[in-house]
Amino acid sequence: MDSLNIVILAAGKGKRMHSDLPKVLHPLAGRPLLQHVLDCAVSLQPQQICVVYGHGGEAVPQAMSRYAARFVLQEPQLGTGHAVQQALPHLAGESRTLVLYGDVPLIQRNTLHQMQQAAGDGLVLLTIHLGNPAGYGRIVRDAQGDVLGIVEEKDATAEEREIGEVNTGIVLAPTQYLREWLAKLRNNNAQGEYYLTDIVSMAVKQGIAVHTAQPAHEWEILGINSKVQLAALERIWQREQAQRLLEQGATLADPARLDVRGTLACGRDVAIDVGCIFEGEVNLGDGVRVGAYSVIRDARIASGTHIEPYSHIVQTEIGENCRIGPYARLRPGSKLGDGVHIGNFVEVKNSDIAANSKANHLSYIGDSSVGSRVNVGAGTITCNYDGANKHRTVIEDDVFIGSDTQLVAPVIVKRGATIGAGSTITRDAPENALTLSRAKQATVPGWQRPTKGKS
Ligand code: UD1
Ligand code: CA
Repeated sequence: MDSLNIVILAAGKGKRMHSDLPKVLHPLAGRPLLQHVLDCAVSLQPQQICVVYGHGGEAVPQAMSRYAARFVLQEPQLGTGHAVQQALPHLAGESRTLVLYGDVPLIQRNTLHQMQQAAGDGLVLLTIHLGNPAGYGRIVRDAQGDVLGIVEEKDATAEEREIGEVNTGIVLAPTQYLREWLAKLRNNNAQGEYYLTDIVSMAVKQGIAVHTAQPAHEWEILGINSKVQLAALERIWQREQAQRLLEQGATLADPARLDVRGTLACGRDVAIDVGCIFEGEVNLGDGVRVGAYSVIRDARIASGTHIEPYSHIVQTEIGENCRIGPYARLRPGSKLGDGVHIGNFVEVKNSDIAANSKANHLSYIGDSSVGSRVNVGAGTITCNYDGANKHRTVIEDDVFIGSDTQLVAPVIVKRGATIGAGSTITRDAPENALTLSRAKQATVPGWQRPTKGKS
């Protein structure tokens, strides 16, 4: 009975989010809540994943279409038991079924492994002891400590409400029993719903073992019903990620002022100043420093490189010992060699810049190939767009581009060329020569500055 089905309940409306977006599509750490759960589910390698959705039309299946999951509409929503019923026709028989929740995003694989280990032929409930159990279903046990059932808060007696052990909702059950039990559910309770939790007393009556397991962290089972809870869980998760980075040896100027929306891998002796945001997959080599308020997405930055404050780096590969920023913008498709300097207000897009080249001030380098040891003067612009098509600029090794130059692509500046400042270059510039295009400077004799008229 080793094969596993996973049912993810995601049909609740999320009224308290006050949003048109279905609740499970709101992002936590840059990814929709449901995506966190799906990623965790996939990591368990189940035979079948079934997402039960309800609100927002096809928005939920569409947003998650990359997953090999089955999406089942629950309409109307008559309770958690009814929701799992909708998934039953799609579940493999000789198996166990694990129920997760699209709005409980941070459940971890290890905790679910523990549940699988505890299962045997019985049922496993994920429970937790809470200082304030209000709102949760309570775990009712007998004198021996064996589980008798779950009582929902709204159906509980005053005495039962004193119980601190609560139902997280996450449950693992043999699929055959689940079919049997769900068919017998009644909705004669305070909410008029078909409670999934009622299967517990049914198991007990049949003498089926009911085990419990606990999550490693309380945050794993926290659910999202409002923007307040979403913001709180975001902070918990960010704190958790910062803690892991610190434990691995990264220096964080302030672990409370770091946001990782994806995965951040750091080498040794990486230092990150306050207010930085890392998105997607970011890899920082040994000794990399990231200055304050930088935003870095899907980038690899090799060892010894320093990113100065307020830099924005997306889909870029940066070599060793580069100096980037402050206020640099590196856009998708850029690749910088070792020892490259990109200074303030320099934008680089879809360009290769080879080792030891510099563009230190106020430039746009787009759709370009720049060789080694090139100096790009202040205010240089590659004019890559003619209004219809993009063209490439090639700047070969050891070129010097004077300040305030426009390179009108397609154009090649050959090896060792020098371009005089203030030039508009529309044809290829030859090797090792000075090329410039400039109106001749003149001084107008006898010219007077205008004065203000007296009229
Ligand atoms: C449920 C549990 C309760 C547990 C708590 C943990 C039941 C009867 N109670 O209560 O013991 O302590 O979760 O948070 O299961 N959903 C659907 N379709 C439905 C109803 C709900 O998909 O028809 C989904 C919701 O989107 C939500 C989840 O199931 O993600 C839980 O539903 P909710 O009504 O919030 O359950 P609780 O009353 O909190
Ligand atoms: Ca409810």
